[in-house]
Amino acid sequence: MKKILVTGGLGFIGSHTVVELVNAGYDPVIVDDLSNSNVKILDQITKIIGVKPAFYQLDLCDEAGVYSLAKDEPNVEGIIHFAAFKAVGESVQFPLKYYRNNFYSLINLLNAYAGKPVNFVFSSSCTVYGQPENLPVTEDEPVKPAQSPYGNTKQIAEEMLRDLIASGSNYKITSLRYFNPVGAHESALIGELPIGVPQNLVPFITQTAIGKREKLTVFGDTYNTPDGSCIRDYIHVVDLAKAHVAALKLMEKEGFKGYDVFNLGTGKGNSVLEVIHAFEATTGVKLPYVIGPARPGDVEQVWGDVTKSAEVLGWKAELGLPEMMSSAWAWEQYINQNPL
Ligand code: WQD
Repeated sequence: MKKILVTGGLGFIGSHTVVELVNAGYDPVIVDDLSNSNVKILDQITKIIGVKPAFYQLDLCDEAGVYSLAKDEPNVEGIIHFAAFKAVGESVQFPLKYYRNNFYSLINLLNAYAGKPVNFVFSSSCTVYGQPENLPVTEDEPVKPAQSPYGNTKQIAEEMLRDLIASGSNYKITSLRYFNPVGAHESALIGELPIGVPQNLVPFITQTAIGKREKLTVFGDTYNTPDGSCIRDYIHVVDLAKAHVAALKLMEKEGFKGYDVFNLGTGKGNSVLEVIHAFEATTGVKLPYVIGPARPGDVEQVWGDVTKSAEVLGWKAELGLPEMMSSAWAWEQYINQNPL
């Protein structure tokens, strides 16, 4: 079986990707520093796949530690790199923390496995587009000046990867630009595990629905959109995880040109109010919400053109808003009864 290193493999997208890698016959090796995840997710993953993946607790900023990992795990054929700080607001407050962590970890990893024929999948983001001129946004849309240090780390990392390939490296690399990952595995054994008050919409919705939060605040309803609230391209985390398997398979094929970029979304936009109504319709739970001021830095509307992902990556999202809402709710109910 092909060994695949999954950094940040105990995180939200990472854990779902580990499950899909096993389903696809790969042998995932999880690396996580537990700075934004819970080691018990390893047991949850084990319950789903029936085997316990190898796990290394490691901060990828520790250069010596990464080289020692590469010595212990020399036969890695692929790397899926999720491990990074990703809170937009926090990155504005502590930019150097973000630049240090997100770049040191990436560079250490690429250096430690340099020279081996490794297929490298990079976790990028639709934040590189800012507020696109054209919607749906394609991968050829000019990258806008980032609106946060977090978004900037994704933009600069993509440039670093392009430069690495241009230097003649024998890595093969795909950058995957995620839109808004939501939902949870159908088993409800893994899902989004925000630490503290959730920043993102869907975990705030489910925590409000279960009574952990008094009400949801909709950040603005005077945008230039049909119902005034912001529009995003929400994608089920399991669909997103499957796209990472598709990226590995693409790079394993003859003729892959060295570097490519793909939008991972559904190609459909939904407003905040539409998501709230979809949650209520799917779960039957009435959601208490109020309209509040717009959140600084929010993009008004963005959703992805996913033609290239369908035609080149050979991947398409299959799950819709109802499955995203029902799975997120099932996970919230599970984790409320079974705190990790
Ligand atoms: C979605 C919409 C909010 C909370 C995320 C990640 C970012 C990147 C892209 C990966 C916005 C509104 C939210 C709330 C609200 N992903 N909202 N009330 O901002 O699109 O960014 O996806 O790289 O890292 O953070 O997602 O879920 O925070 O917001 O009204 O309590 O929901 O204003 O319009 P966002 P989000």
